[in-house]
Amino acid sequence: MTQEELFKKLISHCKEYGFVFQSSEIYDGLSAVYDYGQNGVELKNNIKQYWWDAMTRLNENIVGIDSAIFMHPQVWSASGHVGAFNDPLIDNKDSKKRYRADVLIEEWMEKQSAKITKEVTKAQKRFGDSFDEAMFLQTNPRVVKTQEKIDAIHNRMATSLENNDLAEVKKIIEDCEIACPISGTRSWTDVRHFNLMFETKMGSVSDDANTIYLRPETAQGIFVNYLNVQKTGRMKLPFGIAQIGKAFRNEIVARQFIFRMREFEQMEMQFFVRPGEELEWFEFWKEKRMRWHKAMGFGDDKYRFHEHIKLAHYANAAFDIEFDFPFGFKEVEGIHSRTDFDLASHQKHSGKKLQYFDLETNKNYIPYVVETSIGLDRTFLQVLAGAYTEEKITKDGGKVDERVLLRIPPALAPIKLAVFPLVKKDGLPEKARQIMDDLKIDFKCQYEEKDSIGRRYRRHDAIGTPFCITIDHQTIEDNTVTIRHRDSMEQERVDVSRLREIMEEEVSMKTLLKTI
Ligand code: GAP
Repeated sequence: MTQEELFKKLISHCKEYGFVFQSSEIYDGLSAVYDYGQNGVELKNNIKQYWWDAMTRLNENIVGIDSAIFMHPQVWSASGHVGAFNDPLIDNKDSKKRYRADVLIEEWMEKQSAKITKEVTKAQKRFGDSFDEAMFLQTNPRVVKTQEKIDAIHNRMATSLENNDLAEVKKIIEDCEIACPISGTRSWTDVRHFNLMFETKMGSVSDDANTIYLRPETAQGIFVNYLNVQKTGRMKLPFGIAQIGKAFRNEIVARQFIFRMREFEQMEMQFFVRPGEELEWFEFWKEKRMRWHKAMGFGDDKYRFHEHIKLAHYANAAFDIEFDFPFGFKEVEGIHSRTDFDLASHQKHSGKKLQYFDLETNKNYIPYVVETSIGLDRTFLQVLAGAYTEEKITKDGGKVDERVLLRIPPALAPIKLAVFPLVKKDGLPEKARQIMDDLKIDFKCQYEEKDSIGRRYRRHDAIGTPFCITIDHQTIEDNTVTIRHRDSMEQERVDVSRLREIMEEEVSMKTLLKTI
């Protein structure tokens, strides 16, 4: 199965099993806007809890807030979003499709890198154990030439974006002979800027109504509350403020399902530190956030860091954490060292002092900030892509069956435990209900009595339920049930009185948090 086929399957799985639906589907949908279904919302809430607890419980110096989506319009002037929250766009004149110019160039560079990887694989096969990859990369003329081409384009793109030189960005596209994936032609318009913020009006009379924006990031809600939290919480540097909430961007190239949406959710944390200590904290948060991702257990090789080519004018370091999605390694989280840009700018625009008095140094200053900013929806997609598995099972008698399962970490699974009476009679449903009523206070359980046990198992494999218990005739006699494990499909017989303890150990958030 190709990665493209896998991605298509994943999208239809999300719909079929109540994870994600197209928004307003009965009206043919709204582009790049999605709704989460009955299983999706549970998974999403569990991811939020995993992040929230990792931030605000495991770090004594991080507290949370929940700020409003609407903010004073001046916030967005101060933050730079009114003037500079732009994407460089280019249109293909034949297909009339619009693209992000920098993305077109990055994709071209990825294609060139793939050529190098192909050469390496070929040479590896040819030379076997004696193959020296580092030497090959340095000496093979074709590889060296391709790498030089990539580096040159990389540098030209960084410089042109840095200098806002859009004519040069177009020239790079022409020089690389990049064609529109739809029309196949190289007939491009000039590159232009496009502001990504959604506007609306606040006020009842249109004349005096103010233009306000739907926030394009949650971070500014944290910055404008910095002093409120620092004073009322008597917080001492270094300390952090965390927030989860919706953000909105009028994305032009909205592709790849829930990877790039126009309405999405962010989980952001701003960590306030002494000026001069920010790069140390930057390294600290880079590593710590990577551990959080890897603790979900999808394989360490699925993650990598990506250093930003173009640093925002206020940042002095920025890395992304990328996940290996079916469409390649892409950003899930950004870790940015934002200096004192935001607080200083809000201080200037609002006229209110946003300083910290440092008792140790006896000095007043504006703190520096290290930000961790992760997309909730991208994390959701990461979990599904990492968990989606197709398996062949050889049954007794040699017949081969197939199952689709989601190997979601148990603490994040939408349903933790499915409860099945073997048959719909002989007091088994009543006993099953009794067990379910006892456990549902602590764990999200689902009761099912329709269809064969095998089909019920398959349905729960497909939504990632880590445990299914079956109540049979023996249960009535000796108060034991079978518990079936999703990943191994092994079954064991346990006393009903042990179920809570087993589940607690296996599915609690505590267990996942301990592995970070
Ligand atoms: N406060 C910093 C900030 O917003 P960003 O890199 O623009 O930085 C942070 O966004 C994260 O938000 C990204 O790493 C990504 O996971 C998520 N994100 C950004 N735009 C998104 C979109 N259109 N759809 C879904 N997630 C998005």
